[in-house]
Parts: sequence; C-alpha cells; structure tokens
Amino acid sequence: MDIINSVSEMQQRSLAARAAGQRIAFVPTMGFLHQGHLSLLEEGRKRGDLLVLSIFVNPTQFGQGEDYEDYPRDLQRDAELAAQAGVDVIFAPTASEMYPKGYATYIDVEGITETLCGASRPGHFRGVTTVVNKLFNIVQPHLALFGNKDFQQLAVIRRMVLDQNTPVEIIGMPIFREPDGLAMSSRNVYLSGSRRQQALVLSQAIETARQLVAVGETDSAALIANLTEMISRQPDAQIDYVRICHQLSLQDQEQIDSDSVLLLAVFIGSTRLIDNSFLLDATNPAQ
Ligand code: PAF
Repeated sequence: MDIINSVSEMQQRSLAARAAGQRIAFVPTMGFLHQGHLSLLEEGRKRGDLLVLSIFVNPTQFGQGEDYEDYPRDLQRDAELAAQAGVDVIFAPTASEMYPKGYATYIDVEGITETLCGASRPGHFRGVTTVVNKLFNIVQPHLALFGNKDFQQLAVIRRMVLDQNTPVEIIGMPIFREPDGLAMSSRNVYLSGSRRQQALVLSQAIETARQLVAVGETDSAALIANLTEMISRQPDAQIDYVRICHQLSLQDQEQIDSDSVLLLAVFIGSTRLIDNSFLLDATNPAQ
C-alpha cells in the first residue's frame, strides 16, 4: 500500500491505472476510521481494481467554533486498518497542498444545502462539495462510496455530480451501527459515561418512529412531537432538528409516504450527532 501526499503524484497514479484498464474505486474520508468506513472499503475492494482511500480533514467544511483543530486524527492507525482492508493507495494531502495560496474556487449546490445541517452549519456543504469535486479531479475514480449516515451530504453530492456531468458513479452504503444502535461516527469518541448512553436516544427515536409508522401513523407533525418529547427527556440533549423530509427534495412532508426520511440532529452535551432512516421499509432503496 502506498501513501501519497502530493496532488500531481496521485493524478499520475490514477492516470496510469486508467491507462492499464483498471477500475478505480474511491472512499473519501476525514480519517479516524471506524467500522462504517471499513464497510465502504470492503465494498470498494469488491468493485474496483485500484482501491483509493483519501484521508483529509477538510478545513473548508468546518465553521468558526467547530471542531476542526480537535477533530480526531491518527494516520498510523488508519494506515494499518486500510492495509488490512486491502487499500492500494491512501491519498493524504496537507491543507496547503489542497488549498494553496490564492485558492479561490468553490462549488455551491443550491436548494438542498440551506436546510437541515446546512441551516445550522452555514457554508458546510460548500466546503464538502468543493473538496469532493477536487478529490474527484485528483483521484479520477470510476466510482465513489459514501455512507448513508450523512444523508444530506449524499443527496448534495449526487446533485453536484448530476449537474456537473461528473463521470463518477456514486454509491450510498447502509449506516453501520454499534451493537447498541448508535450510528458509527468518528465523533463518537467525544462521548463518555452517561452521554454515550444518552446518545442512544437517536437510534431509539428512529426505532419508535418506524414502529409507529408500521402501525398506521402517517402524520408527520404528530410523530415529530412524540420524538421531540422523547429526545428532550435526556438531560444533556439539545435538539437541532427532528424532521421528516422527501428523500430527494429534502422538503418537509406533512404526510408520511414511501419517500419519507426521518432526519435527526441532536447535541449530546457539545457533541453534535446525526442519524436518519426511511420510515417505510418497502421503499428503502438506499439503506
Ligand atoms: O463525510 C466525510 O467524511 C466528509 O464530509 C468528506 C465526504 C470526506 C469530505 O470531506
């Protein structure tokens, strides 16, 4: 396995692979790999001849006062896990390699980035789409794998790729959960003691919602009120949003149907957690 830090070296490597007829599978991450990332790598390994993992904590997607400096980093541990997962190349550039002096170009997807996480984290998706677009130009993958946990991020990336005619197949992969239900996230390391326990309220809320829908609940407002009350019972929980949206437009839906996704963002103490689920199984294409 190679670790490449330079943009031009990575581009040359990808061009050579393409010239040799290899299919490039790509998993973009910010590192501090967990089982969810490993499941993306496992799928990427099956689908590609050259498996590339990027590890880059992207400064442009963090707002002021967010955890850019504190975001967990451990390249050595990540490299060991990546080697075990069969990764061929880790692309791990520095911030100045990706955003050299004078950098001035940003990608902005309109319409679906101002809501949900975009409302609480202004500029976040502009940073995500900018870096993902750059990574696609550098790694030149045939396909890229993303987790469904970041539901809005995946919707925004799909929109960008469609609008920009980017020749990359986007594959969404199921949310990977701890045995007790907590969705895997690199930020889970911030949770300790009772807050780790309180964090379970997100997956419990999803479970409750799915059960209520299964027995006939179709009114979003009633469901949201129920879940809001449930989550608020946790002493350290602060709700950012509890929403039921159409899977593509991300517009609120009054009535639950097969396109409805429940989306949650909740602070447990100072740790912001997100989770989501389709509410009807029959039409659960992505999860
Ligand atoms: O989901 C992430 O880890 C990041 O947002 C991504 C897609 C790697 C872009 O920095």
